[in-house]
Amino acid sequence: MNIPVNVPVNVPVNTRVNTPVNEPVNDPRSGLRLAAPVAALFALALLSLVSCSDSMGSNSGSSTVKAQVPATANLSTGLARYSTDCASCHGPSGLGTASGNSLTNCESCEGSFDALDVRIRATMPQGNPGLCSDSDGCARDTAAYILCAFNPDHAEGCDGAISNAVVPATANLTSGGAQYDTGCAFCHGANGSGTEFGSDLTSCQVCGGDFEDVENKIHTTMPPPNPAACADADACAENTAAFILCSFNPSITDGCENVSTKAVIPATADLVSGAADYGTKCALCHGVDGGAPGTRNLIGGACSNCQGPFETLESKIHNTMPPSNPPACQGACAENTAAHIFCEFNPDLAEGCPP
Ligand code: HEC
Ligand code: HEC
Ligand code: HEC
Repeated sequence: MNIPVNVPVNVPVNTRVNTPVNEPVNDPRSGLRLAAPVAALFALALLSLVSCSDSMGSNSGSSTVKAQVPATANLSTGLARYSTDCASCHGPSGLGTASGNSLTNCESCEGSFDALDVRIRATMPQGNPGLCSDSDGCARDTAAYILCAFNPDHAEGCDGAISNAVVPATANLTSGGAQYDTGCAFCHGANGSGTEFGSDLTSCQVCGGDFEDVENKIHTTMPPPNPAACADADACAENTAAFILCSFNPSITDGCENVSTKAVIPATADLVSGAADYGTKCALCHGVDGGAPGTRNLIGGACSNCQGPFETLESKIHNTMPPSNPPACQGACAENTAAHIFCEFNPDLAEGCPP
């Protein structure tokens, strides 16, 4: 997924003409990575262009002052707003259509950031200017997007502008929260605000960018004495990264609504043994189908220990069930009966149940 990349090919009569190599505009961040080399290439081409036009004495010259994109601009939001409110006339890649001109090297794209911001606020979308004002940052964010995506050679500060991290749907927030509590909260604080041993994750440096940057940071360096303790085996780096972003940095994170919060049934759980143990050690009090009345009910909202990570239910059983004799169901028995309670009585609260 690339942002349109302007590759200068020709030295035309009196101005730069770019042959855009386009793919649908999607992720501003991957594009920004490309932007640096491309901008360098472009700058080189410009140099040769300028000397060429000097010798021809015909070029009006290009502005050397770059528009300064403010760090408060959000490129992800800008892309989203551009796609819904602007692309119909200016084209998805800013190349223009019959209803709107090209926004690459356009007149208002070559001035200051504020001038472009004001231009959009006051006149766009054509016919309905109020729709993209500054009350919700629309003019600011679309201006930033137009500059960084379509006019990277004329923009500065694109790297500093906010791009929301997008949390992958494969992450699990409930597991991430549990993994954070056991492996990270000691240093970073239960609410992420930091302690003397670990930094404040509510203003986390690495969080203002790609999800993968946060995941890699954790994967390769956290927890400090033993990074292997939170690596890939149980998706710890992915899950804790999702948890840190969605819980402590929601305003710069997208995709949290797609992330699972269900308990993850461990692959080691044995449902056949779970059903057998449940039948002999638990059903008497909790009912064959888990539907005993009152505090013994193990279904849905009535089961408070079924609402969180798998481990919460497992340790409740390990530590307290059956009430008169907890050692009678520990270890594998606690894991298997917990899996039975999730998969048979509460399938909506679980993922990873055997088919
Ligand atoms: C209904 C079609 C339409 C829509 C939608 C629209 N524009 Fe435009 N836009 C135009 C036309 C036509 C022009 C040129 C005439 C003018 O300047 O008003 C233009 C001009 C511009 C310019 C000045 C370009 C230059 O050459 O300097 C900018 C910047 C711009 N639009 C940004 C936006 C943004 C941002 C949005 C979405 C919030 C948007 N436009 C939505 C039709 C549209
Ligand atoms: C022993 C204390 C300690 C533990 C445990 C710990 N961290 Fe850290 N963490 C730190 C320190 C100190 C830093 C700042 C130095 C650095 O970036 O390496 C840090 C930095 C970070 C950062 C980068 C913050 C930023 O501003 O960019 C992230 C993300 C992070 N930790 C996540 C985690 C996760 C997830 C866990 C649990 C798996 C964890 N940490 C466990 C001490 C700890
Ligand atoms: C003698 C009766 C009895 C037996 C046998 C028994 N339980 Fe319980 N269980 C209770 C009672 C009473 C409660 C409510 C009080 C409490 O939470 O400790 C309870 C609570 C629970 C809860 C917490 C429900 C919630 O709302 O979070 C779970 C889970 C549970 N039992 C699982 C088991 C499992 C698994 C077994 C078999 C290994 C088992 N119990 C055997 C009486 C029993």
